[in-house]
Amino acid sequence: MIEIKWFLSDLEATATAGAKLSKILEPGCIIMMEGDLGSGKTTLCKNICASLGVPINLVTSPTYTMVNMYSCDSGVIHHLDLYRLENRNELEDFDLEELIALEGITLVEWPKLLRPLIENHGVLNIQINYVSEGSRELTMSSHDSFYKRLLN
Ligand SMILES: Nc1ncnc2c1ncn2[C@@H]1O[C@H](COP(=O)(O)OP(=O)(O)OP(=O)(O)O)[C@@H](O)[C@H]1O
Ligand SMILES: [Mg+2]
Repeated sequence: MIEIKWFLSDLEATATAGAKLSKILEPGCIIMMEGDLGSGKTTLCKNICASLGVPINLVTSPTYTMVNMYSCDSGVIHHLDLYRLENRNELEDFDLEELIALEGITLVEWPKLLRPLIENHGVLNIQINYVSEGSRELTMSSHDSFYKRLLN
């Protein structure tokens, strides 16, 4: 397993982290974002999308829509928020391709119920922890050799 930590001292550091991530991500990447309510998952997603060319104001939290899709120069981005999902059966209404951007980038907030459905895909895990009002700690980890190589 690989594990890398970044300290995000303020919102600008989170924007920089989003930009750095956007440069190493490749089509097919799936990022699982974990962290408490308000820890900064959507904020990081916005910054990743913005760095990929999506106007930042278009990127909103998919809490109610469950999945938002954006297109950018490098393909499609699926941004999921599964917080309101009560059980795994509710995901059966979706084809997996509606959730996972196989040729693009998938960002998932509250991914717990999705994990068992995509066991065969490697994922990059990002945990965001609250440190203080303006700062966060970001931990990236993966068991998958593809992501280990990306992070190296
Ligand atoms: N360094 C930082 N990085 C990220 N967010 C920060 C930082 N400092 C302050 N914040 C603030 O923390 C809040 C994070 O909210 P955000 O919606 O991104 O959280 P979330 O993890 O997506 O929450 P939810 O679980 O409800 O979806 C925002 O108001 C943001 O401005
Ligand atoms: Mg959010």
